[in-house]
Amino acid sequence: MDRRNFVIGAGATALAAGSSSRLLAQAPAASTARLQSEALSPAARAQLNNDLLLHKICRTRPNINSLSAAQLAALKQGITVMQSRPVSDPTSWLYQAGIHGSNLSPQRPQWGTCQHGTLHFLSWHRLYLYYFERILRAASGSPTLMLPYWNWGTDRALPAPFRDNSAGNPLFIPNRSSGINGGALIPASSVSAAAAMPITSFGGFTGSIEGTPHGSVHVSVGGWMSGFNTAGQDPIFWLHHCNIDRLWETWLAQGGGRANPADAGWRNQEFTFFDETGTARTVKMSRAAATCGVLGYNYPKRRIILDASILATQISPQLAERIRPPRGAIGTAPSVALGGRPAEAVVTLPPRRAGAVAGKTYLSFDDLAVSNPEGYYEIYLNPPRGRAPVFTDASYAGNLVLFGLAPADRTGMHAEHGGPARRVFDISRKVAQLAKTPGFDPAKLRVVLVLKTPEGGGAQRPAVDAPRARIGAIRVIAE
Ligand code: C2O
Repeated sequence: MDRRNFVIGAGATALAAGSSSRLLAQAPAASTARLQSEALSPAARAQLNNDLLLHKICRTRPNINSLSAAQLAALKQGITVMQSRPVSDPTSWLYQAGIHGSNLSPQRPQWGTCQHGTLHFLSWHRLYLYYFERILRAASGSPTLMLPYWNWGTDRALPAPFRDNSAGNPLFIPNRSSGINGGALIPASSVSAAAAMPITSFGGFTGSIEGTPHGSVHVSVGGWMSGFNTAGQDPIFWLHHCNIDRLWETWLAQGGGRANPADAGWRNQEFTFFDETGTARTVKMSRAAATCGVLGYNYPKRRIILDASILATQISPQLAERIRPPRGAIGTAPSVALGGRPAEAVVTLPPRRAGAVAGKTYLSFDDLAVSNPEGYYEIYLNPPRGRAPVFTDASYAGNLVLFGLAPADRTGMHAEHGGPARRVFDISRKVAQLAKTPGFDPAKLRVVLVLKTPEGGGAQRPAVDAPRARIGAIRVIAE
C-alpha cells in the first residue's frame, strides 16, 4: 500500500436498496413529462421542487469496477440516449456538459456556471451530479441506475469499460492523454488525498481537495477532461466527481470537528439545474449538506486511516484573496517557464524568517499563463541534488495543477474567472520540517517543479520539452 494513500478498509455496508423514490418511479418518459411540467401551476411546480425531500430510500452509488454487465449496459444506454438528444434539450448530453462549461454557441441558460475556487465547489458539483444522475437514470430505462464512482485512489488505471474502443461504446473518448486509453496509470501523487483529509476546516479542506486530487486527476486524464469547457463531455467526468463527492463524505465521517458550513451565506446560495423532465430546478446549497437523508444516495462505508505526511496545503482561491502579494512578500523569484523538464527557481529569504517562523508562510505562484493544461507539476522544496526527486521524499510539498487556467477556460461565467491566475500554498509546516534537516540553508528556498503525466501502458507520445506554462513570479509570503 502506498503510504501516501489513505488506507481504505473493506467492510462495505451497502444500505438496503429498495424501490426508487415515488416521484422517480412514476416519472413518465422525459418528453411527455416535460410537456406535463410546463402545464403545471406555480404551486404545483413549487411542490415538485420539494421532491428533493421525497427520497426516503438511500441507494448506494457503486464502484465502477464492481458493476454487473446489466448495470454497465444501463449506464451506456443512458449516455447513448442523452447523446441522441438535440443540444437545445436540457436533458441532452451536450446541454448537461455545457452547464459545466462549453465552447459552443449560442450559450444556453445555466451554461458555464460551474463553481471553482469558491466554497461552493463541492456543493455545486454535488447537485450537478444529483440532477445529472436523475436524467441519466430516466434515459437508461433502468429505475435503479446510480452513478458509479471511479476510486482512482486504489485503481489508478482508467476503468476498463472506458478504454474499450469497440464501435458504439459511448464511454471511449479518443482525445485523452497519451497512454490513458492503453491502461497507463495516472501518477500516484495525483490521486492522494493525504494533504486534504487531515484538515479540519471546511474551507481548508475544499481548497486542498480541489487542487489535488481533483484537478490533478482531471489533467492526468487529459483531453476534454483538462478544460472547464469540455470536461463534462467525457463520461469519466461524472465518475471522477462521484469520487470527489465520496471523499467529501469520507472527510465528514472522520469527525474531529469537521463540518459543513453553517452560515446562511453558504446555505442559502442558489444555483439552477434541470431535472429529468427538462424542468429548471433552483436549489439552495443547504440541500447539498446531506446525501442520504436529502438526496437519496450514499456510498459504501469506508474506514480511513490518516497519513502522517507533512505536505503543503493548497488554499482555495477565494480564501487566498487576502494573501495578496506584495503584501507580506518576503522573497520573490522571477518568472519561470514550465515545459517537460524539471524547472528550478530560488527564492532568497531573510534568514531569520526562513526557519521556524512564528506565523504562517505561504508559497504563491503568481500570474500563471497556461498553454497546455495536461499533466501537473510536483512541487519540491530544497530537494536533494544529484538525483531526481520522488514524491515520497520529505522535500515533496504538493502539486501545482493548472486545471481551468488555459485561455479556453477563461470565458463564460465560471466563478474563478477574472484577475491573474494564482495558486497559493500554506508551507508553514513543510518549512518547519525542512529547517530541521541537515544542511538546510535558511536564506534560500529552492523550488523545483517536476512534470507528471501518466505512467506506462501503451504508446507514449515522445517526451518533448515544449512550453506548457509560465509562472510570472514565485513569492514567499509571511503573515
Ligand atoms: Cu467543475 Cu472537476 O470540475
